[in-house]
Amino acid sequence: SSPAPSLNPISDDSCGSENEEAEIDWDELGFGLVPTDYMYVMKGTQDGEFINGELNHFGDIKLSPSSGVLNYGQGLFEGLKAYRRKGMGGGIMLFRPEENALRMGMGAQRMCMPSPSVDQFLHAVKLTVLANKRWVPPQGKGSLYVRPLLIGSGPVLGLAPAPEYMFLVYASPVGNYFKEGVAPINLLLADKIHRAIPGGTGGIKAISNYAPVLKAQMHAKSKGFTDVLYLDSVNKKYLEEASSCNIFIVKGNVISTPATNGTILPGITRRSIIELANDLGYQVEERLVSVDELFDADEVFCTGTAVVVAPVGCISYCDQRYTFKTGVETAAQRLYNTLTAIQMGHVQDTKGWTHEI
Ligand code: COI
Repeated sequence: SSPAPSLNPISDDSCGSENEEAEIDWDELGFGLVPTDYMYVMKGTQDGEFINGELNHFGDIKLSPSSGVLNYGQGLFEGLKAYRRKGMGGGIMLFRPEENALRMGMGAQRMCMPSPSVDQFLHAVKLTVLANKRWVPPQGKGSLYVRPLLIGSGPVLGLAPAPEYMFLVYASPVGNYFKEGVAPINLLLADKIHRAIPGGTGGIKAISNYAPVLKAQMHAKSKGFTDVLYLDSVNKKYLEEASSCNIFIVKGNVISTPATNGTILPGITRRSIIELANDLGYQVEERLVSVDELFDADEVFCTGTAVVVAPVGCISYCDQRYTFKTGVETAAQRLYNTLTAIQMGHVQDTKGWTHEI
């Protein structure tokens, strides 16, 4: 097989030393791309051999106009975060990276793609984070968001799996996902656009799941909403998820979230929150959650790698506005505090979720 694509080979010292702090105002971080120094690139064959992975300078990649990803959307992405333990000299921690590797593997099967092994995935993520160490924000200022991609890079014309694949990992420092910061968000419940269908790809991180919700998202933003919450496409009455995150409702001591039945993305933060909520004494239910229960909830919150735990202040549906409890005395706040304390190393991680690198 041909050698790995050396797209932006590391042949000069134009990147800062990995120990030198990046010149960036850490207080200004949102969730936009801040190009970092290096990315990881590895080439794969259709029969599943991934070879010659290497770090390159972060930069453009070369793709055939007839690549599988550009023509038929054969691609997956992942998202995970690296946190700095203390000051700029502190160790760096990854949160449950093997879960991302496993999820990419599952998604690859659905998309007829080969995937790197868990070890190859973890190696690539660690190399990318360490090479971009100076871009990991100081404690409390954000995290380094790591974006692995698996794409059909080889040429196709008729509809078929691509003959070659590319696995890439790049990273960007990020702050809060929503412009509201940690303040409550407001959602528009979509009545016409659906995110996923039974038998489709809603349960994997296919790149093709995300562009189709942009229209609903742009409409909601133009009306002053933060994001969109979707209903199931068959009964049009059960909650699915928001454009970029899973959803939970709280009623008394019971926390409910839609079960992952193939149309819901099995979020790693979702799964972590379910476990932490159980530990904190809540009764957690994964099941169908109807829109009527949503309107009757005490609290609503969203979870995701990018979003972490975002409290929902209000939801609008068919010109009705429903408001929910937010603030320090909420389940969402307790869960946010518990999760981020583990992610940032403020408490001992008894679950083996964090990996110091
Ligand atoms: C994440 O939370 O990591 C995601 O992949 C969602 C994305 C739309 C930012």
